Amino acid sequence: MSTPVGTIALACRFDAREWAEWLPALATALPGETLVRADDQNHDPEAIEVAIVANPPAGALQRYPRLRLVQSLWAGVDRLLADPTIPAGLPIVRMVDPAMNAAMAETALWAVLTLHRGFHTYARQQRDGLWQPHPQRRASGVRIGVLGQGQMGDAVGRRLRALDYRVMGWRRGEPLGPVLAGSDILINLLPLTPDTRGLIDAALLRQLPCGAALVNLARGAHVVDEDLLAALDDGHLHHAVLDVFHQEPLPVGHRYWTHPAVTVLPHVAAQTDAGSAARIVAQNLAAWRRGAPLAHRVDRQAGY
Ligand code: GLV
Repeated sequence: MSTPVGTIALACRFDAREWAEWLPALATALPGETLVRADDQNHDPEAIEVAIVANPPAGALQRYPRLRLVQSLWAGVDRLLADPTIPAGLPIVRMVDPAMNAAMAETALWAVLTLHRGFHTYARQQRDGLWQPHPQRRASGVRIGVLGQGQMGDAVGRRLRALDYRVMGWRRGEPLGPVLAGSDILINLLPLTPDTRGLIDAALLRQLPCGAALVNLARGAHVVDEDLLAALDDGHLHHAVLDVFHQEPLPVGHRYWTHPAVTVLPHVAAQTDAGSAARIVAQNLAAWRRGAPLAHRVDRQAGY
């Protein structure tokens, strides 16, 4: 087995279709590099210097004693930071990609338009054979709160404002109460950190106006599920659009699957775009190899 020093290991939880998309995209963007799949054990672990990862199982990187850089293909790095086998000093870079921000904005726009104009209600009415128009509101009268003002929160806010929605953003350290009290629709785009885990609980939901809706496009663990279900059951919340869950895939029989006030998506709000992300990986790697500062290096203290 001869593996050149400096080889890049791909520790990615991909299915066959995803591998078929990612391998050529990465090979094209990184022409001078040797790439091996971490799940193909036929390489020398001592030669691995860089790992490109996508939601790897905990412990997946501990067989590489000379690892010097981890590049995530996911924007959220909460699972990597929760893996105690990854040394504290090892630099981790998260994926920041305008293509992903645009995809997230599309999902947020779809959710807001659906909730504002009641298209989810009309879909249910069609299933019931019911012809029943409802009053129409103007976008300028709908207030949207966006939790998280990073790249994605920014992109979402810009697109919503362009459609005339009244958008209020919230970032860590600012008072949350006024944003909650003024949100007909609350969109969660926060990173999952010890500070934000379980943030969306009964106390937070109570501060939303009666009849508000929640759109969670960040992580399932931001939400206390029993509290959200209670708020939906008692009608305080009108609807929830959920893309992410404590356990994924969402377990068979979970109440979210069949709750009439819940829309379930299979964690697809912003999938990483292979072509564009591979080019970003190549830029980051080139910067790292020439000793330049790493853009979007994860701050372990902040947790993202
Ligand atoms: C997906 O959830 C990501 O973090 O990129």
